[in-house]
Amino acid sequence: MKQQDIQLDSQGRLRHFLTIEGLKRNILTDILDTAENFSTVGTRNVKKVPLLRGKTIANLFFEPSTRTRTTFELAAKRLSADVLNINISTSSTTKGESLLDMLRNLEAMHCDMFVVRHNASGAAHFFAKHVAPHISVINGGDGSHAHPTQAMLDMFTIRRHKQDFTKLTVAIVGDILHSRVARSQIHALTTLGVPEVRVIGPQTLIPKDAAGLGVHVYHDMKEGIRDADVVIMLRLQRERMQGALLPSANEYYRTYGLSPSKLRLAKPDAIVMHPGPINRGVEIASSVADGPQSVILEQVTNGIAIRMAVMSMVLGRGPEEEAEE
Ligand code: CP
Repeated sequence: MKQQDIQLDSQGRLRHFLTIEGLKRNILTDILDTAENFSTVGTRNVKKVPLLRGKTIANLFFEPSTRTRTTFELAAKRLSADVLNINISTSSTTKGESLLDMLRNLEAMHCDMFVVRHNASGAAHFFAKHVAPHISVINGGDGSHAHPTQAMLDMFTIRRHKQDFTKLTVAIVGDILHSRVARSQIHALTTLGVPEVRVIGPQTLIPKDAAGLGVHVYHDMKEGIRDADVVIMLRLQRERMQGALLPSANEYYRTYGLSPSKLRLAKPDAIVMHPGPINRGVEIASSVADGPQSVILEQVTNGIAIRMAVMSMVLGRGPEEEAEE
């Protein structure tokens, strides 16, 4: 079974959310529109809607996370679900319990959804394949494979600033090779109709099959960033690098870091994005990260609405059901 098939039910609706690859444009647009409806919940006096009341969601983060784990937790709480944050480092997996046994035990506690982050590509798919039929799995980032909710919150942020995807030039800069975010962004951008997606980085950090993903490859940052509407900077994923793929951090910053002078080559109204965590002075200058074109913290805020949208969609509830509660 292809990976994208397992995440849809027989009527083509999202049952799990594992990858953007293979999803049709209407599903991505549904997620963005649903998130738009949820985006004001965080500004209300009572930051809650009752859509997932009575549902139990378990966060299973086998890798560190600040943004993804906390915004999934906030999103679930804003939907009135009960949330379990499983501390993997103190769980019984450290005593030799297998992932499958852990899964069976959480199922026995009547969980309805697992949000999974793992350093192995394919981990969320493995969970989805083995869970009971009533349980949904959302991928919170698996190895260098996919980070679909990150890509969707990035699309939401781009749409808010630029409205029409079909007129944009988007430049993604840095460690594309190890980046699950870049892979998911490329699938989302091309599916939503962005005509010019560029990836920029040293040869050692660009996947060999990049051109097959429908992007243009640049090794010269100044060429690649020219006239871009959106500039997405990526962190060097040193934890996934094997061997020496890089010059020094200083040399990397000089060549591929986003400085104010390099940013001036993009369109004057270009927005600067970064999924975080950012490494100031390595891939981005502080003055750019904190500057007027940066939407980095907006991305974090938008992550809550996107995760509310995805969780409510896979559990079959939308904002329209709120009125019936
Ligand atoms: N963007 C992102 O996935 O950040 P975290 O690792 O902090 O979750």
